[in-house]
Amino acid sequence: VAAAAPILDDLRLQCATPLPLLRHVAGAMAAGMRTGLAADGAGELKMIPSYVYSLPTGSETGLFYALDLGGTNFRVLRVQLGGKDKRVVDTESEQVSIPKEIMHGTTEELFDFIASRLSKFVAMEGGNFQLQEGRKREIGFTFSFPVKQTSIDSGILIKWTKGFAVSGTAGKDVVACLNAAMERQGLDMSVSALVNDTVGALAGAHYWDEDVMVAVILGTGTNACYIERTESIPKLQHLGLGTGNTIINTEWGAFSDGLPLTEFDKDMDAESINPGEQIFEKTISGMYLGEIVRRVLARMAQESDLFGHSFADKLAEPFVLRTPHLCAMQQDNSEDLGEVESILHDIIGVNQSSVAARRVIVEVSDCIVKRGGRLAGAGIAGILQKMENDSKGLILGRRTVVAMDGGLYENYPQYRSYMVEAMAELLGPRDMEHIVVEHTKDGSGIGAALLAAANSKYAAAQLLA
Ligand code: BGC
Repeated sequence: VAAAAPILDDLRLQCATPLPLLRHVAGAMAAGMRTGLAADGAGELKMIPSYVYSLPTGSETGLFYALDLGGTNFRVLRVQLGGKDKRVVDTESEQVSIPKEIMHGTTEELFDFIASRLSKFVAMEGGNFQLQEGRKREIGFTFSFPVKQTSIDSGILIKWTKGFAVSGTAGKDVVACLNAAMERQGLDMSVSALVNDTVGALAGAHYWDEDVMVAVILGTGTNACYIERTESIPKLQHLGLGTGNTIINTEWGAFSDGLPLTEFDKDMDAESINPGEQIFEKTISGMYLGEIVRRVLARMAQESDLFGHSFADKLAEPFVLRTPHLCAMQQDNSEDLGEVESILHDIIGVNQSSVAARRVIVEVSDCIVKRGGRLAGAGIAGILQKMENDSKGLILGRRTVVAMDGGLYENYPQYRSYMVEAMAELLGPRDMEHIVVEHTKDGSGIGAALLAAANSKYAAAQLLA
């Protein structure tokens, strides 16, 4: 164990996130936002306009579907909206994990998989769900990858992230891909809104609470979106939108300025399927935290007797140690760290570990999780500061809600506290008093359905009726 100590000390130093570093990250995030709003491709942050100009008001009625293709799972959902008084009358959803072969297959295979799941789900419709006569079923499609929106119901995949490597999709309109697959299934539905999961989460949360201004996903991957004034978006000025608000998808996963990275991060990035990309995401999101820790442990096992003199091959396998394992280890408050022992044994094949060795491993996890949580907090503070700078007092001087979703945020209490702690350090107690960081479970699914309703192909008919 003693021989592992210098590696741990080094790690602590390199992953440290003292206030000046966080300040730099928040400032660079705000600056990157401005650069991305000025022109397409101008900086690391894509700052993608969502084409959402009006958020759901609550008066939407009828049956709407949502599809949610994100990180680990694929979900289908239906919601019956009852207007101002009844709001959400009923919802039903189904979730499946996305098979590995689909994540690494062809575009057609992926969209056929989606359309066939959707078709089965639609076939089970009944009970409280009722389509208005003469209408097609409408879909809000949550597609959680960087997409260049071309309208509210179309957009081109820029690149895959989060371990997806489906061939032939980049550069294509994903709604056209879905329509083609639905046609192959004989399914006659129509996509009324294509949204990023952050945008869905913002719309879903805003439906219940109008003070929601920002939405952040911390799950397999990470991203944030926020409500921006159209006059603050130079790259949209040619559209002559006048004054109003819209949602901007920052794609902050691509940020990298000033991040404290270690050799473990750099090696993981170099061996990833998207080297040099999504560096913020690789430092703070759920897909990667376990893998970074595994890399540190593998080094410790090589250079010390942390796990005795032999160590299992399993430890050499990329991505065996997952973020939920780190989380389970960090919840172990027992004297002998029994839970840590069983994870080491079951997951990375360590037959024997001393209590001291288990402690070191918990420390390594904490170090990586703390860096991730604090950097996420700095990112959020950066967004809030950018918004406040453009409209003094309208953000930090009043109740402002940041809607959070994603498995990492939802399930990892230490990560959550590190994140909020960093926000408080950066924003100070006075501003922090008005900021509400709130979990909106499942916002993105319902949110996409609500955006489909708000952008319904039948909206004009509805007004006339
Ligand atoms: C994608 C984003 C998405 C985020 C969270 C990232 O990898 O680029 O579009 O919002 O993951 O799901």
